[in-house]
Amino acid sequence: MTINISALLESRTACEKEDAADPLRNWRAAFHLPQGLIYLDGNSLGPMPKKALEQLDQAVRHEWAEELITSWIKAGWWELPETLGELIAPVVGAASGQVIVSDSTSLNLFKTVHAALGLRPERTVIVSEADSFPTDLYIQEGVSTTRKNIQRRLLGLDGNSLEELLDDHVAVVSFSHVNYRTGELFPIEELVKKTHEAGALFVLDTCHSAGVLPVELDQWGVDFAVGCTYKYLNGGPGSPAFLYVAKRHQQAAVNPLSGWWGHARPFAFEKDFQAAEGIRRFLTGSQPVLSLRGLQAGLEIAQAADPQQVRKKSQRLTQLFIELVENRCGEFDVSLQSPTDPEKRGSQVAFLCLNGFSVIQALIARNIIADFRAPGIMRFGFAPLYLRYTDVWDAAEALADVLKTEEWREERFQQKHEVT
Ligand SMILES: Cc1ncc(COP(=O)(O)O)c(C=O)c1O
Repeated sequence: MTINISALLESRTACEKEDAADPLRNWRAAFHLPQGLIYLDGNSLGPMPKKALEQLDQAVRHEWAEELITSWIKAGWWELPETLGELIAPVVGAASGQVIVSDSTSLNLFKTVHAALGLRPERTVIVSEADSFPTDLYIQEGVSTTRKNIQRRLLGLDGNSLEELLDDHVAVVSFSHVNYRTGELFPIEELVKKTHEAGALFVLDTCHSAGVLPVELDQWGVDFAVGCTYKYLNGGPGSPAFLYVAKRHQQAAVNPLSGWWGHARPFAFEKDFQAAEGIRRFLTGSQPVLSLRGLQAGLEIAQAADPQQVRKKSQRLTQLFIELVENRCGEFDVSLQSPTDPEKRGSQVAFLCLNGFSVIQALIARNIIADFRAPGIMRFGFAPLYLRYTDVWDAAEALADVLKTEEWREERFQQKHEVT
């Protein structure tokens, strides 16, 4: 697939015209965006929806301060994991009763990979991608310690295609929808089909796709899925993650972290565990209510925005950035790491650059926020609901200027921090 953005490459004025005609342009007003900031890091932490401030204010000043413990019922705190799960469900193509919000992505990966493995007790292999986000790999290692003789095969290390790695020993295939570094988008429907043909189950990590790409968990036949809510769902720093368990597995799937929130009768305080019916059995313990209350506004936006328009604009924004940077920065040490085909690309663009860390620091000093992933990847995220074509133009100009003037060499841009 090719996207023709040649008119936009001509001038900033052409980008201004495109912004004026953009069908998604009104969503920008739903977010708090600091004056003069170009935010290309929504793939890491989304900006705050204005309504989140109202909802958090209500949760703190009224529900917590005034109503105290009665808010578990009056304000619906107890049901929040399900209520919010129902808001996420249509965003990831899931029918009702299959998504619940709780804990972190890492914990939800543990629960789902373990549960999937438990549904294939006679099989011993987990297949994943060598370049997965590290937590996915670490969690698989952790899950592997809970059963004897579990082995792992990694795409890119033990084989170059899923077919090569599949056989009748494979219990689970666990993949991300979009690679966190390069932005490569995997053809999930096709991979699920191959996985099922081999008799295994598929666990999908949607951290880099939920809220920005079409996700069709039911239609693709995904068995289990997880995702975070602080990126493109704009739920706030450390906001709780979600998990999906296809209806057909809910009765047999076992949550290895069986806590009282997942009990059939939590307030009977029985000695033995009996799992709740449906998706609620995948809860463990008390949930961070204030964080849950900060999440609703972002989910309402994600649910209301047209996913096809979001995808189309995402592809145009990333294409524009790639072409502008390649035109302006060709003479410098930057090389594209993201797929050139927009159909194979998520909503972020990665450029490899030896001095990428310092270049990103110099951009941040100019109020253009992107991030850096070792060893040399400059990552730029493009969230279509609040970014403009002119932002893309300005960011590419600034990047070219930082490289041309060698501003990145300044001492203040060399200092490393814990978070990059
Ligand atoms: C693909 C992927 N999975 C998981 C995580 C993080 O998981 P957690 O929410 O447990 O920190 C990230 C974070 O960026 C990610 O990109």
